[in-house]
Amino acid sequence: MEENKILWLALTLYMIAAPVYCRYHSQSVPYVSLRKKVSKLHFFFHDRISGKNPTSVLIARPNITKEDKSPALPFGSLFAVYDPLTVGPEPTSEVIGHAEGLYVSSSQDVLTLVTYLDFGFTSGRFNGSSLSLFSRNAVTEKEREVAVVGGRGKFRMATGFARLKTRFTNETASGTVVECRATVVHH
Ligand SMILES: *[C@@H]1O[C@H](CO)[C@@H](O)[C@H](O)[C@H]1NC(C)=O
Ligand SMILES: *[C@@H]1O[C@H](CO)[C@@H](O)[C@H](O)[C@H]1NC(C)=O
Ligand SMILES: *[C@@H]1O[C@H](CO)[C@@H](O)[C@H](O)[C@H]1NC(C)=O
Repeated sequence: MEENKILWLALTLYMIAAPVYCRYHSQSVPYVSLRKKVSKLHFFFHDRISGKNPTSVLIARPNITKEDKSPALPFGSLFAVYDPLTVGPEPTSEVIGHAEGLYVSSSQDVLTLVTYLDFGFTSGRFNGSSLSLFSRNAVTEKEREVAVVGGRGKFRMATGFARLKTRFTNETASGTVVECRATVVHH
């Protein structure tokens, strides 16, 4: 532990002493992190693109005439997302945050989405913090992996991955319920 403190002190002093060579950045110094943690999260998100209260809405799609293999989400369709995150799979389960962002239908063969989502938490230890997901999401596979590329608050400088599993789809009722198990390394 003492060694860690000395290393931190040395690094801090070095950064203070390091001359600024340019107007918009400091000198680059070796990055040493001694305080990274790993957290695991387990929750569900609910995505509904139709019905009375959709959580994802189509904001743009190409005007294509040729036949498309995924009629619900033709290649090029862009959706805005505000999906509730819950503790359990039931729609009535406690809401712990929302996934906000975009997804785009990104393949001309098998239906695939690329998701740009901020998973923001509004309760518990991570209230006010969020995870940034930017990843291809092979939604036709029951289980798939997506990349966690960053975060805010307690998840600052997060990196990791999440395993997504489609639990059930019922567009007329709950929409699609996806189980998410994330492993995140962060400060
Ligand atoms: C789609 O494209 C066709 C042919 O180019 C055109 O006639 C039609 O008006 C377009 N529809 C929309 C909604 O832009
Ligand atoms: C989450 O944080 C906000 C802002 O600090 C606070 O108003 C709210 O009561 C908190 N919610 C829970 C469930 O802790
Ligand atoms: C979907 O939900 C509706 C309304 O709750 C129900 O009537 C229907 O049977 C469900 N369909 C499936 C396939 O579970």
